Amino acid sequence: MLENLGKELELNGWLHGIRGSNKFQFLTFRSSGQLIQVIADKEILGDEVFKMVKSLTQETSLSIKGLIVANEKANFGWEMHLKEIKIVSPSTDYPITPKEHGTDFLFSHRHLWLRSKKQLAILRIRSELSFQIRNFFHEKRYTNIDTPILTGSVGESAGTLFSTEYFDLGKAYLAQTGQLYLETAIFAHEKVYCFGPTFRAEKSKTRRHLTEFWMLEAETAFMENEQNILFQDEFVRTVVRRTVEACKLDLDILERDTNHLLNQVEKSFQVIDYKQAIEILQAAQFSIEWGDDINAEGENILTEKIGGALFVKNYPRAIKAFYMKQNPDDPRTVLCADLIAPDGVGEIIGGSEREVDYDKLVERIYEEGLPVESYSWYLDLRKYGSVPHSGWGLGLERLVAWVCGLPHVRECIPFPRMMYRIFP
Ligand code: 4AD
Ligand code: MG
Repeated sequence: MLENLGKELELNGWLHGIRGSNKFQFLTFRSSGQLIQVIADKEILGDEVFKMVKSLTQETSLSIKGLIVANEKANFGWEMHLKEIKIVSPSTDYPITPKEHGTDFLFSHRHLWLRSKKQLAILRIRSELSFQIRNFFHEKRYTNIDTPILTGSVGESAGTLFSTEYFDLGKAYLAQTGQLYLETAIFAHEKVYCFGPTFRAEKSKTRRHLTEFWMLEAETAFMENEQNILFQDEFVRTVVRRTVEACKLDLDILERDTNHLLNQVEKSFQVIDYKQAIEILQAAQFSIEWGDDINAEGENILTEKIGGALFVKNYPRAIKAFYMKQNPDDPRTVLCADLIAPDGVGEIIGGSEREVDYDKLVERIYEEGLPVESYSWYLDLRKYGSVPHSGWGLGLERLVAWVCGLPHVRECIPFPRMMYRIFP
């Protein structure tokens, strides 16, 4: 825009805010998602137009014309001196005012709240992360495979399924993961990913859970667990670094310390064994035993003790999904890893090497109480040219929460779906 200094420009947008005196009015004008300072001077506009400007209400849509003038203190280093103004459509009693509003009120007005300054920044950062994620996989020559949302088999766990009647075929489930379908595609393309909405009927009201969230999943043929971990490490550090560099202005709006973030992704993340994680937690007087899952509080202690993000690998078999490969060195565990992010965010990635032994896989499906018939297509993969392979899934909203420094995932998606919220 600096190339427009000294020029006259026409902009369309909305009145974000207004204040001023009897001589000048200062408008914050929202155009293409950016907040621009516009000065209305009574001497230039004349009495009548100035009076109209002064009476404008929040969120009125406008077409404006004016001179672009340098001002170091304004956003982007310039402002507009208003010459002409036309109302496109009025706005009466806009409910979100500059005063403080409660969280519940704001989420009930999410359709309007999207226009607010911080929300603009968060969703721009989300958009940049999505772009960087796809870009990373494009650069690595991974093929994007769009996996189905309506599925016939349970992907992750029977406990958190949304189901619906599916004509004469019985029940269909909303996808908890695209993984099983991605596994089919590696035999065709070797390196694949999917990126789309996934669903979990989570009855938990935590700050990390949504019932609908976006997941990036990658699956690679001829890849073992250790390589899989290195791949995730490269991915997360690259995507976060590129996003921070591209979104400095938005991170400033959120008062997120960009140096702190860049430091967090400068070096490879530490990798520890589940057994070590339990020892660290026990030494910190946290009540946990071998075999227990590590909850949010435990994850926070680990990132504090380690001083950043970390991978925890080789969890007990009993607390992980059926498709994970049994660890040949310790059959009580599986070849898997979770990536735990710092700043209170917790697990952002779950990944593993996949079980390729046909009989072990069938045994695990039975153990989980899942209907083995609905997995016949998945089990076929172990019959026709099976290969070692691994993959992982990253929850986009948790990554957004980490980058933005937000305590809760609910602001990290345009329209959050939670146990107690389906509107707007
Ligand atoms: O650990 P999860 O359940 O792993 C899978 O779904 C595997 N099939 C992935 C794979 O190997 N292809 O979920 C992966 C990630 C979690 O680490 C978390 O970031 C996110 O998805 N996630 C959620 N995010 C928000 N709300 C929820 N209810 C989430 N459940 C999982
Ligand atoms: Mg997980």
